Amino acid sequence: MHKQQLIDTARSLVADDKGLLAMDESNPTCHKRFAKLGIPQTQEYRFAYRELIAKTPGLSESISGAILYDETIRQTTSDGTPLINVLKNSGIIPGIKVDAGAKDLAGHPGEKVTEGLDKLRDRLAEYAQLGARFAKWRAVITIGSGLPTAGCYEANAHALARYAALCQEAGLVPIVEPEVLMDGSHSLARCFEVTEEALRTVFQQLYLQRVLLEGMILKPNMIVPGLDCPIQESVKEVADATIECFQHSVPAAVPGIAFLSGGQSSELASARLNAMNVKYKSQVPWALAFSFARAIQQPAMELWSGKAENTQAAQKALNHRAKCNREARRGEYDPQIDAVDAS
Ligand code: 13P
Repeated sequence: MHKQQLIDTARSLVADDKGLLAMDESNPTCHKRFAKLGIPQTQEYRFAYRELIAKTPGLSESISGAILYDETIRQTTSDGTPLINVLKNSGIIPGIKVDAGAKDLAGHPGEKVTEGLDKLRDRLAEYAQLGARFAKWRAVITIGSGLPTAGCYEANAHALARYAALCQEAGLVPIVEPEVLMDGSHSLARCFEVTEEALRTVFQQLYLQRVLLEGMILKPNMIVPGLDCPIQESVKEVADATIECFQHSVPAAVPGIAFLSGGQSSELASARLNAMNVKYKSQVPWALAFSFARAIQQPAMELWSGKAENTQAAQKALNHRAKCNREARRGEYDPQIDAVDAS
C-alpha cells in the first residue's frame, strides 16, 4: 500500500486552513441547478461553468482540492488545456467522484444504497493515471418514520468501506461521505442520534476492511435540525452538538473532517464551521474543514446565469465564499464583513 503517499495527500487536503470545493455534480444534478436559474442544460454550458471555476484567479489561496466528475476530468478548456492541468498548475489537488449514485435499497422503502463497486478497481486505476489523487463516494441516509433501518446503515457503510479500501490500494485518498439528509421535520437530537449510529457503523466497516484511517478524510453532515423542524437551534448549539457527536464516533487517527453543506445557506454553513473552530480547534484531534458544493458555488452560479459577460463577477463571488470558509477554519469569519464584501 502507498501508506506515506496517502498520509501526505490526506494531510495536504486539510493543510493551511484550506478546504475542498466539490464541483462533481452529476449531469442530472447540475441540470437541476441550471434549470432553476434558466441556464440551458447542455454539455456546452456545463463545460463553460466548470471552466469558469477552474480558471478563477486566486482560488488556490483558500481551496486545497477540487472534486471533479467523470465528464469534467476528461474536459479540455477552450484553449485546449486539460482542465485537470489548469487545477494542478494553480496548486489545487484534483479529486474525482467515483460512486454511481444512490439507488433504491431493495426491501427498504424510502431508503437508498450507493452503487458503483463493480469494476471500481479498474476505474480507480484510470483516474489515478489521469492525475486524480483522491476520490469521493457519497452514501445517503434518510431520517423518517421508522428510518433509517439497520439494513440501510449496514449496506451503505459496507459499500463505503469497500470503496475506501480500493481507493487506498490505488494510491487515492478516499473521502468517505455518509450524509444524513436535512430533509424532514426531525429534531437536532434525532440528527445527532442517527449520525452517531451511521458513523459508528462506518468506522466499524472501515476497520474490518483494513482502511488506513490516517490516509482518509471524513465528509459528514453537521448536526442540525431538519429543514422543517419548528425549533432551529443557534449556531453555537449546532457547533457544540456536532463536536460532541464526532468525539463519540470518529477515531483520532483521522486527519480531517471536511463537512458537506447539505442545503444550508452559504452564510450559515460558514458561521457554523467558524463556531466549531473558535471553540474546539485547539481541543480536537482532527482538522475541522469544509468540502462544500452549494455553499461555495451557489452565489457564483446565480451571478453567472449562463452569460459569458458575468464570468468575472461569478469568479469574484466564488473566491469570496472560498475565502469566508478559510476564515471560518481559522475561527475568524465575520458575517457582517461577509455581507459587505459580498455586495
Ligand atoms: P453540498 O455541500 O452542496 O452538500 O455538496 C457536497 C457534496 O459533495 C455532496 O456529495
